[in-house]
Amino acid sequence: MNDGTPVGDMTEQQAKAELARLAELLNRANTAYHQDDSPEIPDADYDAFKIRNAEIEARFPALKRKDSPSDQVGAAPAEGFAKVTHSVRMLSLSNAFDDEDISDFVTSVRKYLGKGTETALVFTAEPKIDGLSLSLRYENGQLVQAATRGDGETGENVTANARTIDDIPQTLDSAPDILEVRGEVYMSHADFEALNARQDEAGQKTFANPRNAAAGSMRQLDPSITRARPLKFFAYAWGESSAPLADTQFGAIDRLKTLGFSTNPLTIRADSPAQMIAHYREIEAQRATLDYDIDGVVYKVDDLGLQARLGFRSTTPRWAIAHKFPAELAWTHLEAIDIQVGRTGALSPVARLTPVTVGGVVVSNATLHNEDYIAGRDASGNEIRGGKDIRVGDWVQVYRAGDVIPKVADVDLSRRPDGTEPYIFPETCPICGSDAVREEGDAVRRCTGGLICAAQAVEKLKHFVSRAAFDIEGLGAKQIEAFYADDQLPVREPADIFTLQARDSQNLTKLANRDGWGETSAGNLFDAIEEKRDIQLARVIFGLGIRHVGEVAAQDLARHFSTWEAMATALDTARPAALAHRAADAAAEAERALAASENRRARISEARKKAEAGCDVPDAATTAWADLIGSDGIGPTMALSLSDAFANPEERAAMDRLLAHLRPVAPEARDLGSPVAGKTVVFTGTLEKMTRAEAKARAESLGAKVSGSVSAKTDLLVAGPGAGSKAKKAADLGIETLDEDGWLALIGAT
Ligand code: IVH
Repeated sequence: MNDGTPVGDMTEQQAKAELARLAELLNRANTAYHQDDSPEIPDADYDAFKIRNAEIEARFPALKRKDSPSDQVGAAPAEGFAKVTHSVRMLSLSNAFDDEDISDFVTSVRKYLGKGTETALVFTAEPKIDGLSLSLRYENGQLVQAATRGDGETGENVTANARTIDDIPQTLDSAPDILEVRGEVYMSHADFEALNARQDEAGQKTFANPRNAAAGSMRQLDPSITRARPLKFFAYAWGESSAPLADTQFGAIDRLKTLGFSTNPLTIRADSPAQMIAHYREIEAQRATLDYDIDGVVYKVDDLGLQARLGFRSTTPRWAIAHKFPAELAWTHLEAIDIQVGRTGALSPVARLTPVTVGGVVVSNATLHNEDYIAGRDASGNEIRGGKDIRVGDWVQVYRAGDVIPKVADVDLSRRPDGTEPYIFPETCPICGSDAVREEGDAVRRCTGGLICAAQAVEKLKHFVSRAAFDIEGLGAKQIEAFYADDQLPVREPADIFTLQARDSQNLTKLANRDGWGETSAGNLFDAIEEKRDIQLARVIFGLGIRHVGEVAAQDLARHFSTWEAMATALDTARPAALAHRAADAAAEAERALAASENRRARISEARKKAEAGCDVPDAATTAWADLIGSDGIGPTMALSLSDAFANPEERAAMDRLLAHLRPVAPEARDLGSPVAGKTVVFTGTLEKMTRAEAKARAESLGAKVSGSVSAKTDLLVAGPGAGSKAKKAADLGIETLDEDGWLALIGAT
């Protein structure tokens, strides 16, 4: 996609025209990528255009344009919005895909609340609007702030844009003094068609679907553009509120309607899974006639008192679920299978497809999961798709479910061309050439190259700077790739990020003079990096990208250990016990294998020997290991993975180099005002006013640690009727003991 003329052969006139063309192209690609969340051209083309632009500018410096793409940093223009910290987090919903998921959901709610089927449990059911969520803050009846969801904790301040939307009242009559109304901004089908027609006529980019159009319109820095876009808003939830809106979800929505908000007319109350599902079918049948996009039905526990008891998991409420409509499907041609190497070395096959529109979005890549999936088997070796394998050249069915990556679901053997070959999954890493091995029981083949594998290193770095980890402004995936490949100012491991500025100052070719950078953007980057030297410990742990250690686990670890040193010391101490645990696992596995086949004796005896080696484990190691896997949210798989990472000399050295630049901040107890924050609590005996799960979740939300066994570390035992040995042990240790009422009084829940 260039005009074909080599830069060396260009006349000045040709160069000028080509620079204009590239500026337009790259600006459009930037907008599509950063503002509209819908990339228009492949990254490789984008890079090639940028390089060509820079080459022409180097040859004809006088022709460099004022709006040259070289001076634009790849960072999101959306950085122009101020950040807003939500006073109550904006969460997402867990998903259900079939009727069984719905009865499971209802059963789990009943179980959590300890409610048998003899008592009624009412839910609301309403359409799930496919737009973007928005939080509107009213103080004394005046709209003072509108914010997007962002990562749920921090969103973007889009108040000026929200004020242009007719469905959003500027003032409220007789509302609570503080009220955050939440709902979905969307664009109707009719308005979407008309907007695209106007865009087309004006020679401007059209939008792929109403959701993209709504999101793109809401994230305009110039509110007059938003004003010209016909956006609508449905209210369906709320955040902070100084007074309750009602006793029920249904009542609260009614109240929002009285206050002047649009609420969805297809909202009903249902008191059984059968009724909920009936409403789902009804809405599904009406879907095509609605003038807006919906992607499912949301069920919520109606009683707000019960909602409060149910509370939240880390990112989703226990009292609601989204019942999604089935995915959209399309058939297309599989042109190639590429292998991508991820941060933990996993080799992931990616289908390169002839582009096809699936549910309004053009799809040209899809995941093929793993080698078994391609071969037509599941993880246990059973046939999937009737055992049909997938080959390059096949016609394949692609589906998209919501925002998730498209997948290849099926293959049409009747259209398989002659001469296709079964796909052979590589046994070496396509990037570094190291062996790619598949461990027993693992569906995934992994590159064993570790940090010497460029793909793993780059993916680890991208993970390190990602939003939930270090979140460094101006240092995204694109910049990481460029720095990794840079010979003068390389970033090959996380620690290198923190020496970037010092190294740059000694360099002759300054970052500020590089393609894509300027004085301001380079200065901003260095400032953004500087800012992250003080960082939450949980972000450091998560940022390391250790297998099995996700965001929530990192938070659990940070809360458990409080400091990096404490965690590292505990892992070092626990190492012999971790190895013994693995050996014992291997022995048990071998034992199971023996039942199946006699001739594996050798392996078994070896595993046994290893397990026996575990007998020399020092007491301190056993205690440290027990403490690790006994703490909230940390299981043996994760603990082993952590232990391996810390015991690997190269990885450990890289961590040490990184930590030398950081001042990790210990996590705050979740609720500093709570009398149980930071305390270790054990529940025992029968609880009568709440289930065990509810008691545990409640205590944790108040900042307590809940443990299953009494030890010297226990601060408080809550004992119901029938408490046995734990109560006795607590008494022996002199640990404070309360009954259920005493506990409820302590946490102010009576
Ligand atoms: S309730 C605490 N109700 O779906 C959860 N969400 O997948 C509050 N959405 O982020 C959300 N229609 O943007 C709720 N009727 C509805 C919805 C709805 C659309 C969106 C919302 C949310 C996402 C979760």
